[in-house]
Amino acid sequence: MSSVDTTIKLIGQGAPGSTCAPGLADEPWTFDSIPGYGPGASQGDVLPASAPRQGVLPDEYQHASIDELDARILSAKETLGDRVVILGHFYQRDEVIKYADIVGDSFQLARAATQRPDAEALVFCGVHFMAETADMLSGDGQAVILPNLAAGCSMADMANIDQVEDCWEQLEELFGTSDDGLAPIIPVTYMNSSAAIKAFCGRNGGIVCTSSNAKTVLEWAFARGRRVLFFPDQHLGRNTAKAMGISVDEMPLWNPNKPLGGNTAPVLQAAKVVLWQGFCSVHKRFTVAQIEQARAAHPGVRVIVHPECPMEVVDAADESGSTDYISKAIDAAPNRTTFAIGTEINLVRRLSNDHPRLTIFCLDPVVCPCSTMYRIHPGYLAWVLERMVAGEIVNQISVPDDVTVPARVALERMLAATP
Ligand code: 13P
Ligand code: SF4
Repeated sequence: MSSVDTTIKLIGQGAPGSTCAPGLADEPWTFDSIPGYGPGASQGDVLPASAPRQGVLPDEYQHASIDELDARILSAKETLGDRVVILGHFYQRDEVIKYADIVGDSFQLARAATQRPDAEALVFCGVHFMAETADMLSGDGQAVILPNLAAGCSMADMANIDQVEDCWEQLEELFGTSDDGLAPIIPVTYMNSSAAIKAFCGRNGGIVCTSSNAKTVLEWAFARGRRVLFFPDQHLGRNTAKAMGISVDEMPLWNPNKPLGGNTAPVLQAAKVVLWQGFCSVHKRFTVAQIEQARAAHPGVRVIVHPECPMEVVDAADESGSTDYISKAIDAAPNRTTFAIGTEINLVRRLSNDHPRLTIFCLDPVVCPCSTMYRIHPGYLAWVLERMVAGEIVNQISVPDDVTVPARVALERMLAATP
């Protein structure tokens, strides 16, 4: 089966049934000077004015063939040896993941950043919040490099620190103090958030979670507080809390543009989890109708979706779990099992290619990848590695110390909450 990259070229040529932007077939540097997330599932989201921009990728990398880039990346890697470690998130395209020394979900890659203290640089093939996290968890002298600075995350951009501080002030005023040893509310941020928001959690008795340890983290929070403020992904928060027995009526949604988030004081007083109204534009594409179609076409199909999917979709699936959960479930499946998977297409296609003994397909028949993960292309990887060989670190992600110190408190709590 072809890689996602090859299929996307077919979309650009007008493949039937595609609703994805034909611009997906263009190389990512075409979009570096155009504000926005670029073509793909997140392209309709609003990019904050302060989002990092990628400068112009030198011509020699734009014009190199994929074979030439391959030779240059391998040669730079060999020259750099143990000085560099390449980390790759499961959603990266195959053409990039093949160079990764460590491949994993966001929890595993955060932990990996703590485990290679001798490397001079960690090149993060993933998105901006992951590189920020790696910078905060890695050693002082280590550089973290994001090959394309435009690889952000539209969900992470749905909560900014000013909105979160404003929300917190309102909630603190409403809830006051408690005298039973439990805090009135504990902030929990999903890994998919800015370093400033992680620091906010560290300063306010809170914690970071990933999709693989969200339940353990919520248990941690409820051992210390009466309520949780969960941001930015409403779906991960709702799906996890619901599976723990919390009623959806006790989970009001917080709209940062309205007083009290658009809620009444009694509703917030009665809340167990206040959910920020963010979402992932990749995972919101999955629907109950797609699950029904998969079940009709493939009786006995095992449906697994990522917990960033809406609640109705998680409820209609057989299982939900992080990218690592999905990979492990597939590895352990008996021969000839059929899987319908609700997560980013690069991972689904790779799992399908790697397991010819199984039938694995994506619930969404239209190939539409995460637009920001897709901004990492071998051309940028070759550029950052060759600059390092020449003695220059480009695209370094550096979080200031006054943010890193409190954010590390929340991140270390997260690392202790093993999935
Ligand atoms: P995990 O890798 O933690 O499952 O997260 C998925 C994701 O959307 C990362 O952006
Ligand atoms: Fe962000 Fe969704 Fe892309 Fe993950 S898949 S990086 S949550 S936009």
